[in-house]
Amino acid sequence: MKEISLTINGIERKVMCTPDKVLIDLLREDLKLTGAKQSCDRKGQCGACTVIVNGKAVRSCLQKVERLEGADIITIEGLGTPENPHLIQEAFVLAGAIQCGFCTPGMIMTTKGLLDKNSDPTIEEIKKAFAHNLCRCTGYTKIIDAVQMAAQFIRGENSPEKEREKIGTEMIGESHQRPSAMIKACGLAKFSADIQLDNPLEVAVVHSTEYHAVIKSVDPSEAVKMPGVAGIMTADDIQGTNRIRVFVPDQPVLCEDVVRTLGDPIAIVAAETREQARAAAAAVRVTYEPLPVMMTPEASLAEGAYQIHKHSPNLCFTQPQTRGDAEKAIADAKVSVEAEFSTQMNHQAPLEPEVSVACLEGEGEEAELVVYGRGIQINAMAAQIQEAVGWDKVRYKEPFVGGQFGIKASIVTEAVAAAAALHFKRPVRYVPSLAESMLVTNKRHPFAMKIKMGADADGYFTGYTNEFVVDKGAYFLLGPIIPLRTLHMLSGPYKLDNIYGMAKLAYTNNASGGAARGAGPPQGAFAMECAIDMVADQLGMDKLEIRKKNSLRPGEAMSTGVKAEQWSFPELCDAIKPHWDRAKRDAAAGKTGGVMRGVGLGCHSFGIAEPGDNAQLFVELDPDDGITIYAAVADPGEGNDSMLTQIAAHTLGIPREKVRLYTRDTDKTVDMGPSAGSRMTYMAGGALLNALDKLKAVYKESGLKTYAEFKAAGKPTRFEGTKAVPGGELDPVTGQGPGYDSQVHNIQMAEVEVDTGTGEVRVLKITSAVDAGTILHRLNFEGQSEGGMDQGVGYALREEYVHGKSNDWKTFKFPTMQQSFEVEHVTREETRIRGPLGATGIGEMTMTSTAPAVINAIHDACGVWICDLPATPEKVKAALAAKK
Ligand code: FES
Ligand code: FES
Repeated sequence: MKEISLTINGIERKVMCTPDKVLIDLLREDLKLTGAKQSCDRKGQCGACTVIVNGKAVRSCLQKVERLEGADIITIEGLGTPENPHLIQEAFVLAGAIQCGFCTPGMIMTTKGLLDKNSDPTIEEIKKAFAHNLCRCTGYTKIIDAVQMAAQFIRGENSPEKEREKIGTEMIGESHQRPSAMIKACGLAKFSADIQLDNPLEVAVVHSTEYHAVIKSVDPSEAVKMPGVAGIMTADDIQGTNRIRVFVPDQPVLCEDVVRTLGDPIAIVAAETREQARAAAAAVRVTYEPLPVMMTPEASLAEGAYQIHKHSPNLCFTQPQTRGDAEKAIADAKVSVEAEFSTQMNHQAPLEPEVSVACLEGEGEEAELVVYGRGIQINAMAAQIQEAVGWDKVRYKEPFVGGQFGIKASIVTEAVAAAAALHFKRPVRYVPSLAESMLVTNKRHPFAMKIKMGADADGYFTGYTNEFVVDKGAYFLLGPIIPLRTLHMLSGPYKLDNIYGMAKLAYTNNASGGAARGAGPPQGAFAMECAIDMVADQLGMDKLEIRKKNSLRPGEAMSTGVKAEQWSFPELCDAIKPHWDRAKRDAAAGKTGGVMRGVGLGCHSFGIAEPGDNAQLFVELDPDDGITIYAAVADPGEGNDSMLTQIAAHTLGIPREKVRLYTRDTDKTVDMGPSAGSRMTYMAGGALLNALDKLKAVYKESGLKTYAEFKAAGKPTRFEGTKAVPGGELDPVTGQGPGYDSQVHNIQMAEVEVDTGTGEVRVLKITSAVDAGTILHRLNFEGQSEGGMDQGVGYALREEYVHGKSNDWKTFKFPTMQQSFEVEHVTREETRIRGPLGATGIGEMTMTSTAPAVINAIHDACGVWICDLPATPEKVKAALAAKK
C-alpha cells in the first residue's frame, strides 16, 4: 500500500492504494464519485470514464493511482451542478446530445479537455479528440453539434440564454429541455452500478464453457475455501421454477443438468468483493459430457439432428403468409430476380453493460424482494422473477438505463441477483464485465432469406416471395414475435397483391435471439429493397420512380390483407426527389479513379402498435394543481420523459415543471408493455391523453379548478388512462389477419464511397425522409433518427457478434465518431388518425431502411452485390475481384 496525495474537484485528499489500483476505482468505489462510467473492461475502448488529470482529458480506467502523486483531477461532479452548470453541460443539454446519458460524462470531460486548448476546433479536430469516446444512442451528430455550441459559448459568440430564446413557448413541436438531461450532464443520474446498498455481497457466475453438454458434476470445494467467499449456490438452491418464462419456460436461471449454449449460468458465487467472487467462480470445477453442437439452423434442422429441448423439435415455430399467387405472378413477369440474402447475428450494444442489484426489504416471508435492473417492461419482469425464484413480493426498480435497443426486453442477470439475494439473505450486486454481458444477453437474430421478385414491363411489381429461416439460438425468449413482425411488414411500403412468406424459427446452440431495434423488419427490408434495385436495373428504371410507382395507396391491402388507411409514402418520394436527383449527379461524377461514389435508397413502412397492444396508466392531481403521472414507461434514452411531460403540459395548459413522473418502479404502476417496438409515444402517449381527457371532463362539468376544490367537493383526483388496439392473430395457414394500428414511412438515401483497392466503404451522407405524424419534440425526433441511422450503417458495414469470439467493443467493431457521416432530415407530418396529438412512433424506422440503402449504394458505386451482411472490406474486395 502506498499513500498518494492528490486534489479531486478542488479538495486535497490523501489516499492509500495498491500498485494495481486504477483511478476509476478510486473515484467510483472509494469516493462514490459515480459520474465517471465504465462500459468497456478497462481497455480504454469506451471513454465513458474520462476525467481531467492535470488539464488533460484521460481515461480514468487506464490511470494507475500510484502515478498520480500531486495530480489535479476534475471529474464531471466538479464541473458544474444542475443549479450552476458549466457552459459545456448547458451545450450538451441544449443541442439534444444526451439520450441515455451513459456516455455523457465522458463526452463532456473530453470536450473540456479539447476546448481548454482549442476553443475553435474543426470537425476533424473534434473527431480526433473523441477517437476513444463511444456513443450508441446519438449517431454522434448531435454530440459534434454540442461541442461546436459549447465552443461558441466559450468564445462568447453565443450563450445558453440565446439558445433558450430560440425554443418557442408551445409545448408540442418545440425542443424543450429533457427533464432528465441536466442531471445526466452533471453526472448525477444514478445507473444500476451506481446504487449503493448497505453491506452488499458481490456475486459472480460460473458460466458454461461448452456449447452443448450434460453437466456431470459441479465441484465448489476449492472455491468455498477462498478468501471472502460467503457461499456458492446451484439450481438446487432456487425455490421457484428456476425458469425465466416469456412464452415458453425453457430458460433456466441456473442450469440443472444440461447446458445449451456457451455462457449458460451454472452456479452463483457470493463474496465480499467482486474480485473475490470472480476468483472463486473461476475455481469452481464443472465436468461435462459433450452433446452434438449445432450452431446454425442448417445443422439443427438436418435430418436426425439431436433435439436441443425435450418440449419442442428444433423447428420451434413456423408461419406462412399467402396473398394471391406469387409464384405464378413471378413466372409470368416480364423481369424477375431470385436471390439469397443473409444477415449476421448482432449485439444491440447498449453502452451500459448488464448490472442487476437485489435486496430483501422487511422481515421474514413478508419481506419484499427489490430488484434493480435495466429492464424495459418492469411489471412483466417482476412477474417473471417472482415465478423463477419463488418469492411472492417482488418489486422491480429501474434506475437510469444506458441504452438497450431491445436487449432488455428479456432478462437474465436480474434473476441471478434475485436468486442470490434470497439465498444468501444479504443485498447483492451482480456487475458482470462487458465480455460477460455480451456472452449472456440476447442478440439480433441472423436471418437466411430466399427471395423472388417479378415486375411487368412498366415496372409494376407482380409478385414477391421471401422464405426465411431464423436462428433462434438456445432459448425461445420472445419466440414468434420477430418472425411475425417480419411477416406483418413483409410488403413494406408497396402494393403486392401476390405475395408469399414463410417464416421458420430454429433452435440452435448459438446465443439466443431476442428483440433488437426494428426486430425482424430490418432483415426483411434488406432483402426486399435490394431485390427492388435488381429489378429496376433489369428494366433500366429509376430506383425512386419504381418505388413511388409501386406504393400502396389508402384502401389497398398490405401483406396481412389489412387495408391501409393513411399512406404518405408517395408524397415522401416526392419530398426526397430533389435530393435524389442531386445525389445521382454527384455519384455519376464521382466514379473516377480507385474511389467510386454511389447512392442508394432503402425504404420501409413500419408498423406501430401490434394487434392487441394495450397500455394503462394513472394521473393524479397534486396539491399544487400540478399532476403526477404513474406509468411504467421505461426511458433508456429515447426521451419518453419529454414525451409524457410535453403532452400533459400541452393538454392541461400547465407548466412542464408541474408535471411529475413516477415511471420506473413497479410500486404504484401497472404493466404498460415494453419500451420497444417504437410504441411508447403512440401507446403511453395515447393512454395519457385518455386520462387527461377524463380529468378535463371533470374540470368542465364541475367548474372546479384546483386540487383543494376537488377535495372539498369530494371529487376523485386520480384518473385511469388506457389505450387499446383491437387484437387477433394471423391465420396459421394464410398469414392473413389484423395488423398494426399505425405506420411510420421512411426513405433513406445513402451516399457512399467505395475504395476499390481496399474494399473499404465510407458513408458520406444520409438523407432521411420520414413521415411519423406530428413531431412532438424535433431534437428528440432527430436524435432517434440519427441513432437509428448510425446503427443501420454499423449493421450494413461492420458490426457482428460471433458467440465465443466477440467480447469487447473492438471485436464487435463499435462505430466511432470517425465513421460518422453528414445527415439531412426531410420531414412530413401527416396527422395520424388515432395517434396522440397526431403522432406515431419513430425509434426503429431509420435503423430498418439504412442497411439496404447502403448496400444499394455500394452496388451503384462499383457494381457488386453484397447479399450477406455485413459488407466488410474483405467481402467487397472479394466481390470486386469476382466481378473482374
Ligand atoms: Fe475506461 Fe472504457 S472504462 S475506456
Ligand atoms: Fe451516448 Fe447513450 S447517449 S450512449
